[in-house]
This record gives sequence, structure tokens and C-alpha cells, in this order.
Amino acid sequence: MSESLTIRGGRVIDPVSGLDAVADVLIADGRIAAVSPDAGKEAREAVDATGLVVCPGFVDTHTHLREPGFEHKETIASGTLAAARGGFTTVCAMPNTEPAADTAAIIEFVLRTAQAEGAIRVLPIGCVTKGRQGRELAELAELAAAGAVAFSDDGSPVTDAHLMRRALEYASMLRPPAGGLGLPVIDHCEEPALSADGVMHEGWVAVRLGLQGVPAAAEESMVARDIALAGLTGAQVHIAHVSTVGSVELIRRAKSAGLPVTAEVTPHHLCLSHEAVLLGPAETPGGLAFDTNAKVSPPLRTSEDAAACLAGLLDGAIDCIATDHAPHAVEDKLCEFDQAAMGISGLETALGLCLSLVHDGRVELPALIEKLTIGPVRALGLDRHIESIGTLSVGAPGDVTLIDPEAEWTVEPERFASKGRNTPLAGRTLRGRVVATVYEGQVVFDDR
Ligand code: DOR
Repeated sequence: MSESLTIRGGRVIDPVSGLDAVADVLIADGRIAAVSPDAGKEAREAVDATGLVVCPGFVDTHTHLREPGFEHKETIASGTLAAARGGFTTVCAMPNTEPAADTAAIIEFVLRTAQAEGAIRVLPIGCVTKGRQGRELAELAELAAAGAVAFSDDGSPVTDAHLMRRALEYASMLRPPAGGLGLPVIDHCEEPALSADGVMHEGWVAVRLGLQGVPAAAEESMVARDIALAGLTGAQVHIAHVSTVGSVELIRRAKSAGLPVTAEVTPHHLCLSHEAVLLGPAETPGGLAFDTNAKVSPPLRTSEDAAACLAGLLDGAIDCIATDHAPHAVEDKLCEFDQAAMGISGLETALGLCLSLVHDGRVELPALIEKLTIGPVRALGLDRHIESIGTLSVGAPGDVTLIDPEAEWTVEPERFASKGRNTPLAGRTLRGRVVATVYEGQVVFDDR
């Protein structure tokens, strides 16, 4: 007997078809079977979505699942559960594991473990260079054949421009399983000679705290280099976690020149600034202090940078929102700022944080949903691996997220599904939450 699930009476938003209306979503045998005002009329069992927003499951191009090697920070099981709680039904897993995902065996391990223990879909990203050392190319074709959807040395840039050129040339010749040509190379743009020992944005907060800064130019110089290499090779470069006014402008110009450049921005770079590093007397009786949970790479920058990232997201310079979910253990953050690990555990707060932009009237809800669903799919060409993901088209995977955009909740990291409780949002009240997540027709998170 075929299995079916009906989600009835919600405000269905599907950016691909432009649908924004009250309707039922019928899922049969793990796939979208119908979306219409009365698709669920006959259904015996239905999820009541009255008053909720129903949209395609979110897709994250940038998640750190930490397994293999750093299971004390996160596992594929805990990370995908955190993703489901955050409304994500697909995450692309970054390769900065131990060992790094530079062989087919590691890509296969991630896929196998996700299949056995994961709550949602995991699409692995392979390394650009062996061991992420930046010296010798990894076997890109082997990684692609094993299931890698993109390449990145994430956490580290590919500093050698010649090696980056070769990586782009090879990646552009590889064929994704469902058609097309070329896999993207994702670059963490940071010129190490400029970022040097910097631990936060180079600006007034760093001066006040006596911390070494990372100038915006550290990112922008490598974004400019990568754009030049995209022009030289005709191969796609995807710029990870854009954080500065200048990067947005460079990418905007590259796109208008027709270059194959795509980009993502994180919720924290859209909504927070370097001031989040500073804890005032209210939080720290006795004086000024810092919050290592706001230490992230690239660093949180100024509110002007955040505004430029948002403008870029809205005018298409930036293709999508990506969490850069970077879970760390307590001891990685409970230390001096210089010593603390970089990263924010972001899957479970992504929607609530981004919805602040909607509540402030700066973004329309359908536009936000687009940047969390079909935006990331198109940026990395993920529909050349899983057909129709990021949509509610008939025949698409039955991946659906139910949202209450108005519900207020307080961020309590100790209640995260992620092992990483490292968030600068602890104690903050967010408006809007994920109510339920359906993956391939199965309810994998239900908080109704
Ligand atoms: O803050 C970050 N943390 N940025 C990165 O690029 C890597 C990540 C991590 O793996 O912890």
C-alpha cells in the first residue's frame, strides 16, 4: 500500500512556481503528489497547517557535521537532527573533517553514515587539495564519482592561484549524475598574509578590546582573484560566507559581466555586527569583556557590511543564505579570545534570526524562503544531483517545512539538538520558528 501524508490548510509558498496561497500539499511515496486547495479533501490522516507557512524544505550549502574525526563537536546524527529542527531537509557537508574528505572512501563514509543515522539528506563536499594543505590537488574526479557535489578546502582558502586555476579547470569538466557539466569550487576567501593573527573584524571594537583585527581587504583581495580566475577558466567559483561591502560589489560586477560566480551569506553576517563580540557591563559585572561565541571566520563586521550583504541578497549579487553551522565543544570557546575556536552553531537559529529581517520590513517572506530553498539549489546546481529539490513541484522529493512566523521563543543552547552550543544568541528572543519538518514524506521534526 502506498504511504501518503497530507499537510492541510497552510499558506503554501513555493518560490519556483510563484505560488503563495492557502492550499493542501499531498505527499505520496515520499514525493510531492499534488498542491491545490482541495488536494487533502479525501485524506484520512492530515497534518493541520492552518495559520502556518508551508514551504519547500530548506537547503544549506555550508554545514560542518564534524564526522569523521571530531565527534565530540558534532556527529552526522546530531547535526542532521539539528538541521531538521532548523527546517533543513538537505545540507551540504563541508570536508574539514579528520581525515579530511579528500578520498572517495571518506565521501562514501559520509553518505553511508547519513543514510543509516541521518535525519535528512546529506550531500558531501570534497576537498580541493589533499589534506586541505593547499599543495596538491585531490583526486577530484574520484570524489565526484563517489558523490561529492562541489569542492572546497573550507576553513582554509586555496592560496596558490595556479592550483586554484587547475582545480577550476578540472572541476568544470566533471559531470553531475543528473546531467549538466561542471561542479563548483567553493572558496573560503581569506588572504592569510592579511588576516595573519587577526581574531575579529579590524575596527573600533577590536581596538577597544585590544584584539588583532582582520581587515575587509583580506577577504576582498581573494574574492577579486577568484573572479579573475573564473574569467580565465570559464569555471564556476562559489564564494563562501561573503561578509564585506567590497566583496558584494566585486561579485555584483562580476555577475553583470556574465562571469560564472555565485555566492552565499550567513544569517549572522546579515543580522549581527562586530559589536556582538563586546559584552557590556550588564552581561559582565565589573566591566567590558568579550563573547567568544561571536568569534567566527570571516568575522562579524560592521552594520554597513551587513546592510550591503542584505542588499546583495535582494538584488541577486548573492544567491543564497548558508548557515556555516560550525559546532564546537564548550572547552573550545571557554578560553581567551585569541585561543577560542571560530564558528557559530547556526542551524537551529537560522530561520528565527533571518525572520527578524522580515519583521523589520526589510525582506518579504517569499523572498527569504527563496534564498533558503531554490536559491542554494541553483547556486550549486544541486538539482543535477537530486531532481527538483528546493521546490514543491509534483514529483519533487517530499521535503517540506512548516513555519510559524510569529511565534516568539528564547534561544536556549542547552536545548539544541546540535552538540555545539556555541551561539552569541543565547537568551535572545526570536520571533518565528520551525514547527515541523518533513523529509521524503516522513515527519522528522514535529514541535506542534
Ligand atoms: O568560523 C568558522 N568556522 N569559519 C570557517 O570557515 C570554518 C568553521 C569551522 O569549521 O569551525
